[in-house]
Amino acid sequence: MRKIILQSTITEYNKPSDLNIEDRHLLSEALKATGNSYSPYSKFKVGAAALLSNGEIVTGSNQENASYPIGICAERVTLSAISAVHPKQKIISIAITFKSNMKWASPVSPCGICRQTILEYEQRQKKNIRIILRGDGGKIQIIETIKDILPLYFDKSVLGK
Ligand code: THU
Repeated sequence: MRKIILQSTITEYNKPSDLNIEDRHLLSEALKATGNSYSPYSKFKVGAAALLSNGEIVTGSNQENASYPIGICAERVTLSAISAVHPKQKIISIAITFKSNMKWASPVSPCGICRQTILEYEQRQKKNIRIILRGDGGKIQIIETIKDILPLYFDKSVLGK
């Protein structure tokens, strides 16, 4: 028998002014993107903004449906838009934040499906994607690769690719 201990690295900042100007701007674009969230069911408005290698920023927000499982998270809306419109660009960083009715200032944590999706994009572009997370205010967390929050991930290597 042996125990395997997994380790992740997350860097935490107290406030946006502690970030570099590029990350601060990306986070503010993610916050703006919450304004386009279509979330009449959860009222949980998630916004994402991704910085591409050509300097462009692509934003997205969660899009819900009366048939609840059809709803799409902000992260996947943003990544699909990038793949559809800017397929040649690499994603440098993605900032994710939310606005809600609750007083909840912990950083938003991408759901399992979004973590798996971000992993696919990282592997496809052969470059880590930095992830900048903030709640409705509060501290900011930066993760250098999705692998830090997706231990024991499933990927194409299992499929012999
Ligand atoms: N949501 C996201 O957009 N991103 C996440 O990382 C977590 C959850 C959305 C899905 C749904 O529209 C709402 O937040 C409540 O779960």
